[in-house]
Amino acid sequence: MKVLLLGGGGREHALGWKLAESPEVTTLLAAPGNPGLAALGPVFPGFDPTDVMAVVDLALANAADLVVVGPEAPLAAGVVDALAEVGVAAFGPTKDAARLETSKAFAKEVMTRARVPTAAAAVFDDARAAHAHLEAQAPPYVVKADGLAAGKGVLVTDDLAAARAWVERCLAGGFGAGSRTVVVEEYLAGPEISVFAICDGERALGLEPARDYKRLGDGDVGPNTGGMGAYSPVDDVPADLVAWTLDHVVVPTTAALAEEGTPYRGILYVGLVLTADGPKVLEFNARLGDPECQVLMPRLEEDLAVLFAEAAAGGLEAAPLRWSDRAAVDVVLASPGYPEAPETGAPITGLEDVARLGDVLVFHAGTRRTAEGVVTAGGRVLNVVGLGGDRAEARRRAYEAVELVDVPGKRFRRDIAE
Ligand code: AMP
Ligand code: GLY
Repeated sequence: MKVLLLGGGGREHALGWKLAESPEVTTLLAAPGNPGLAALGPVFPGFDPTDVMAVVDLALANAADLVVVGPEAPLAAGVVDALAEVGVAAFGPTKDAARLETSKAFAKEVMTRARVPTAAAAVFDDARAAHAHLEAQAPPYVVKADGLAAGKGVLVTDDLAAARAWVERCLAGGFGAGSRTVVVEEYLAGPEISVFAICDGERALGLEPARDYKRLGDGDVGPNTGGMGAYSPVDDVPADLVAWTLDHVVVPTTAALAEEGTPYRGILYVGLVLTADGPKVLEFNARLGDPECQVLMPRLEEDLAVLFAEAAAGGLEAAPLRWSDRAAVDVVLASPGYPEAPETGAPITGLEDVARLGDVLVFHAGTRRTAEGVVTAGGRVLNVVGLGGDRAEARRRAYEAVELVDVPGKRFRRDIAE
């Protein structure tokens, strides 16, 4: 089968690497792709995967049998819907089903209907009512913009004045005019963990949990980022966490969506907080996590192309997925200035030295190939993944490799998987 993968970050390089391993895949195209994906098949630098008509044209021109959507923006733009109209199979939810990620208010409404344990929340489009509600809460306050805000729309604070100001900013359209709605939420205390399921509209298969590091600095300090590292397996979670998440979250949520005529096909990402009262849902995403995907793909012992094609067609075989017992640890190398104002265009060297190491994978994220070689082209630049018999060994390999890659002024955390 010919597979067209949309996106060009570290998550997509890891997905492409796994898809290319499948004997079923004859060609892997990636749009826009990146220099890592370019080693696996044709890439289309500069391609905009949210341009729905361009995606349809590219899929038809290349006779793609399956389109795999990596990031959320093309889902929100409706690429899966448009591909369905021209008869091209796509793995990812439709625009309506992807509202589980693109509208926090919609996600809350579905969770309430499906009786999914989550933080209590109230939704406002009026500042007076929002302020009155905030004042009745105890700190810490959690205030969120309703729509997609690239991870920047959430404020967690003990300062009531700051919380009030955030309400004003959300309602003024500070996170996009489409999201002049604000969600005030109960604060959930406890460790966070990501659980993922592959869904075909009716059935769902759980992936192994992965832990991601959202803050920029060691010891979880500094600003929130897209994710500075990840590891899997995770040992400090309940042994039945995936089964619990399928039963109490994924199945009721996807059943509620199917009932209203918007079956959910694709990855459902469940962000959980393990509170003293049991796990509760923090958020949904309509895609794999980045960098969680980069530690899950090396451990998955299944044919990903077959799984995605079955799910896209609504015919997932209901067998538990097989996983390697080995551990994977991903350290993200970021550009200086990330996340506020990353500096780009710097040469990257040492990749050949890392390629000679065993049990290390490098997934490209913000990189670009030029006549002079590969240069930095984004905030998160590379994912250096170490594999090993246990987490300590995987971690040691990842950090050994990090020393060999030279990204000028590179930022990375030294405490991933410690
Ligand atoms: P989100 O964009 O919804 O994933 O929120 C970003 C981060 O804010 C999460 O990863 C949490 O660390 C924090 N956060 C969001 N909502 C809550 C909540 N209800 N309670 C505690 N922390 C939260
Ligand atoms: N690593 C968090 C995310 O992908 O949203």
